[in-house]
Amino acid sequence: MYLDGRIPMIELSGVEKRFATPSGEVAALRGVDLRIGSGEIFGIIGKSGAGKSTLVRCINLLERPSAGRVNVAGRELTTLGSGALLEARREIGMVFQHFNLLASRTAYRNVALPLELAGWRPRRIAERVLEVLEFVDLLEQRDRYPAQLSGGQKQRVGIARALAARPSVLLCDEATSALDPQTTASILALLKRINQAIGLTILVITHEMGVVASLCDRVAVIEDGLVVEQGPVAELFAQPRSATTRDFVTALEGMGSVTRTLRVAR
Ligand SMILES: Nc1ncnc2c1ncn2[C@@H]1O[C@H](COP(=O)(O)OP(=O)(O)OP(=O)(O)O)[C@@H](O)[C@H]1O
Ligand SMILES: [Mg+2]
Repeated sequence: MYLDGRIPMIELSGVEKRFATPSGEVAALRGVDLRIGSGEIFGIIGKSGAGKSTLVRCINLLERPSAGRVNVAGRELTTLGSGALLEARREIGMVFQHFNLLASRTAYRNVALPLELAGWRPRRIAERVLEVLEFVDLLEQRDRYPAQLSGGQKQRVGIARALAARPSVLLCDEATSALDPQTTASILALLKRINQAIGLTILVITHEMGVVASLCDRVAVIEDGLVVEQGPVAELFAQPRSATTRDFVTALEGMGSVTRTLRVAR
């Protein structure tokens, strides 16, 4: 496995997820093995319904896998009881497509929320919130409500909130899918800066090859609940093996943006 000598930060072994539905059982994940190294930016790409969101939800155990093991930051999450799981989840920051900010709280108070829930002391909360808001360049907007922020600003609040409790891992599920191309580029650049500044492991779930091309070290392609191919991004682009990967690469080349995005963000 290509880990570049890094310690695994996320390890999935044989992860399966089945949902019971009125029309029968849906197998959303059918045995996923993944090892993501500490400090990597790892992409998971797949078409709609491939199982991407189910996979992220199984990594933080918002969904309990039907089978298999999930290990994050050296802890076997699948064996933990609910109290220990709550604590282990603090190692995992989540960034969402639709930001999931509380409309009734300012930017500052949205970022403070996870720290309040974790029982931090008020003075430490204030220090940390200002520190992360400065990092994402939102100090001036700290007293605005989500309705008074642009999409990109809202996502930067979402990222600041995810970073507040100093997680070991950041999970981004379609974090740029609701944003225009220019704002997308600025959010991808921010994620890259976070990775470089603090060596945070970042898992990026997307259906956009441009995101993978400009941001990720390695990528896994998921199709119908299975990883059909994975490797360093440049290798996958040069020699796509699965039909899904070929479709993604062709679509991106069609837009003429592979080399452009690669150049912008690297
Ligand atoms: N709670 C659920 N109950 C039943 N089926 C589900 C549930 N959640 C997901 N599924 C099914 O599992 C499969 C994978 O869904 P998932 O949301 O993980 O896909 P995705 O790759 O994230 O798609 P998209 O790109 O559209 O977000 C789909 O067939 C979906 O209908
Ligand atoms: Mg999804």
